[in-house]
Amino acid sequence: MAKVKLTGKVAVITGSSRGIGKAIAIDLAKQGVSIVLNGRNQERLDEAKVAVEKVHDKVITVCCDISEKDAGKNLIQSAIGHFGQLDILINNVGVSNRGNVGESDPEVFKKVFASNLFGAVNPTIAAMPELRKTKGSIVFISSLAGIRGIPGMSAYCSSKMALRAVAESIRLEEKVNDIHVGLILVGITQIEHNKEAIAADGSMQTLEKRDDKKGVQTMEYVASVVTKNIRKRKFIYTLTGIGKLNSFMQARFPMLVEKIILKNLHKFEERRQ
Ligand SMILES: NC(=O)c1ccc[n+]([C@@H]2O[C@H](COP(=O)([O-])OP(=O)(O)OC[C@H]3O[C@@H](n4cnc5c(N)ncnc54)[C@H](OP(=O)(O)O)[C@@H]3O)[C@@H](O)[C@H]2O)c1
Repeated sequence: MAKVKLTGKVAVITGSSRGIGKAIAIDLAKQGVSIVLNGRNQERLDEAKVAVEKVHDKVITVCCDISEKDAGKNLIQSAIGHFGQLDILINNVGVSNRGNVGESDPEVFKKVFASNLFGAVNPTIAAMPELRKTKGSIVFISSLAGIRGIPGMSAYCSSKMALRAVAESIRLEEKVNDIHVGLILVGITQIEHNKEAIAADGSMQTLEKRDDKKGVQTMEYVASVVTKNIRKRKFIYTLTGIGKLNSFMQARFPMLVEKIILKNLHKFEERRQ
């Protein structure tokens, strides 16, 4: 299939006030796409807007918690109200958890699913009528943690697996409407200041910076993959060599993968920091 031209299109990126979402917004802006930024903190959103404005001035911010049902509608209506159309929805909001299942407060699962699953479903449902008109794209930002359950991150893993099921269903349901659905399995990536995960007791835990750790991808690289996925209208893209190997092995030799993980439990402990 020929590559889709992105100039003149309009994109909503959830959770784009920092991190990978902001990098995606900047990368799409460079392709001539008008940008709708989203996050819960207006100050951070304003900073991200300034970063996009270095590329062009077709950018607005919508401050809302996308895990709330009406926020999805408001976000999409604001985008269409301002730019007159919607072509691309990137469901990027995602929060991780730390701690084994047996030690976790059940609220951890509620919080993670509120952000990662409902935070994607809310804007997706609201965007569908417009995306059917524009034959647009919905991209879900998932993780290598969505390939199989790994220790200490069960809520996160299960929420990303749920996203995959939603993406697969939409691809079948909307084939007739020619909506493109992408699913990006992201590996461990640089983080911006103050990124948090949900600890076992439900409190927020600030994560350490990881720029100098081995095998960490840049946010800009992840963003470039998302743009490529939209241009080529592909389904799943798995990042990193380890990610590709993991997908291959998990599908064919799941018990071997389990053995390897059990032998390397200490490495999972270290990576969770
Ligand atoms: N970084 C990695 O190593 C990595 C690896 C694999 C997959 N991923 C996935 O990539 C995506 C982005 O990760 P990241 O590391 O860039 O995350 P991040 O630094 O924590 O950024 C998350 C963004 O989402 C916003 N946000 C969070 N909850 C929200 C909500 N309920 N409603 C609206 N906005 C919300 C945050 O702003 P406010 O807090 O101000 O609202 C922020 O702009 C996630 O889906 C994550 O699972 C990341």
